[in-house]
Amino acid sequence: MGAEALKEVCIMKIIRVKDYEELSRKAANILFAQIVLKPESVLGLATGSSPIGLYEHLVEMYNHGDLDFSNIKTANLDEYVGLSLDNDQSYKYFMNEHLFSKVNIDSKNVNIPDGTNPDAEAECSRYEKAIGALGGIDLQLLGIGNNGHIGFNEPGDFFPKETHIVDLTESTIEANKRFFEDISMVPRQAYTMGIGTIMKAGKIVMVANGEKKAPIIKEAFYGKITPQVPASILQLHPDFTLVADEAALSQI
Ligand code: F6R
Repeated sequence: MGAEALKEVCIMKIIRVKDYEELSRKAANILFAQIVLKPESVLGLATGSSPIGLYEHLVEMYNHGDLDFSNIKTANLDEYVGLSLDNDQSYKYFMNEHLFSKVNIDSKNVNIPDGTNPDAEAECSRYEKAIGALGGIDLQLLGIGNNGHIGFNEPGDFFPKETHIVDLTESTIEANKRFFEDISMVPRQAYTMGIGTIMKAGKIVMVANGEKKAPIIKEAFYGKITPQVPASILQLHPDFTLVADEAALSQI
C-alpha cells in the first residue's frame, strides 16, 4: 500500500484523559452509545486491570436503568489454559465478577474460550466458528500488554490470524503474577483470538493507563507496524480509538 493510501486508511483517534477515573467514564460512554444505538450488539471484551473501572461504570448505568444487556452478545478475547471454571483467576470468573453477574445479560449470549478443553485445535476452531456465527464483533475492547500484546498475541514473527493457543512470554507471566499467590501458579498457556479475529471487528477501543504503559504506547502507535509489537497493527484499523490517560501518553 502506498503512503497516500495508508494515510486514508489510518484514522486512529486518541482520546486523552486526565486519569483512570476519566478514562473509565469516557470509555464506558463509548460502550454505552454502542449498546443504546444497537441493543443487539456483539461486544468483544477484555479482562485485566485496565477495563475494571469501565465495567463498574457500565454496571452503574445499568443500575440507573439506562442500559439493557438482554440482547447483547459477548465474546472475550482470551482465557488461560488449564484453570478450572471456578478458579478465581480464570477470565470467566473475572467477567462474572465484574460484569456478567451484575447486569441482565443472558448467559447463553456469553462466549469465552474454554480453558478446560485440553484439545487446543478443537477448542480454537470452535471459538473462531462461534464468533463467526455471531456475525462478527461490532465493538472490540482491548487493553495492551507492556510488551505490546493484544489479547494474548505475544510479540513474534507474524500476526496470527485466528484463535490459537499461545505460550505466554516471561514478561507476560511476570506482569500477571500480581494476580496469583505465587509466580509458579501463573498458567503458561492461553487460548486467544488471533490478530485477524480482532482486526475484523467493526470498531476497536483500547484503554491504557499509567506510566508503565507509556513506552509501549509510543512504540505501538508512533513506531513501525511489526508483529514484534502486535498492537501496532491497530494503526491500520479503519475505526480504532485509544482512550489513554496523561501518564500513558507521557512519551508522545
Ligand atoms: C486481557 C488481555 C490482555 C490485557 C493486557 C493488559 O483479556 O487480553 O491483553 O488487556 O495484558 O492488562 P492490564 O489491563 O492488566 O494491564
